[in-house]
Amino acid sequence: MRKQPSNPRTFRMKVTVVGAGNVGATCADAVARWELANEVVLLDIKEGFAEGKALDIWQTAPINLFDSRLVGSTNDYAKTAGSDVVVITSGLPRKPGMSRDDLIATNAAIVKSVTENVVKHSPNAIIIVVSNPLDVMTYCAYVNSKLPSTKVFGMAGILDTARYRAFLATELGVSPKDIQAVLMGGHGDTMVPLPRYTTVGGIPVTELIAKDKLDAIVDRTKKGGGEIVNLLGTSAWYAPGTAAAQMVEAIVRDQKRVFPCCVWLQGEYGLKDIYMGAPVILGRNGIERIIELKLNNEEMELCQASAKSVKEVMDVLDKMNSVTA
Ligand code: NAI
Ligand code: 2OP
Repeated sequence: MRKQPSNPRTFRMKVTVVGAGNVGATCADAVARWELANEVVLLDIKEGFAEGKALDIWQTAPINLFDSRLVGSTNDYAKTAGSDVVVITSGLPRKPGMSRDDLIATNAAIVKSVTENVVKHSPNAIIIVVSNPLDVMTYCAYVNSKLPSTKVFGMAGILDTARYRAFLATELGVSPKDIQAVLMGGHGDTMVPLPRYTTVGGIPVTELIAKDKLDAIVDRTKKGGGEIVNLLGTSAWYAPGTAAAQMVEAIVRDQKRVFPCCVWLQGEYGLKDIYMGAPVILGRNGIERIIELKLNNEEMELCQASAKSVKEVMDVLDKMNSVTA
């Protein structure tokens, strides 16, 4: 069991998770289990659903030995008031017959209304977006929150690098703990894992694995979400929910962790006015710094291509004035 020593600072914290589905409940479970807050609120629009999940997680406290209190709420944002961190996981996965634009419109409407309610009751909260399409839903939350971009960002890079690190650990027969990696770009098939910045116990990964095998792992990482959808018929939740909780941990414990997160770029990597994955320092103030890696031409071209594909979807959202205005 992963357990941090009790920290009096986190015990004054309140964390809300919106959406008590697969990802949201997993995230709330980790936040409570790691004692990142004294109060964890789980909110969902489905009557009784969040209350049921919160009660179930609370009933693991005597087994998992934590004190964080869990509160469930059916769309009552008063219960979320004064949250320090809010994780937004509400949103539909794509269903047969739905176009990409249908999904954007549906989830953008959800993310917009959730964000407005969150900010109304917790004006000082840091918002972590998980709902898909991730980069564009983070943009939607940013526009509608009217908060500084350092306080509104998205979770994808921790998940995507976790997949990459797990595949490498299996291939190399080493502990995943010893694999460090960074990744750029949007959360989709255009994401850009960076083998040049991947190490195994400090050793460049390129010294330990043949190029064709590494290329295959990079390719599998890019399609990692789809691989799970094909196996389960729905998207992943253990790794995504735990990854979001790791971001909460970095914030409430002011850890200054270096993670790839979906952030608002303002000239970094030659990109402007776009939410996309890049390495950052994450602490109590949210995004404390965006780190600019020295990319070679090939890496930079891949990032530009990923940015182009994110921007196309952002443009679709921008044209839906009713959703973002
Ligand atoms: P899910 O269907 O299990 O849960 C979503 C929950 O949101 C449902 O319980 C639903 O009732 C709730 N909801 C819908 N509208 C709401 C509203 N207006 N207010 C409050 N709650 C509302 O889905 P799951 O698997 O938990 O995924 C959630 C989202 O996260 C999806 O959009 C999914 O694509 C995305 N996702 C993103 C990942 C990433 O890396 N960023 C990874 C995995 C999933
Ligand atoms: C994932 O990567 C679908 O975004 C989701 O698992």
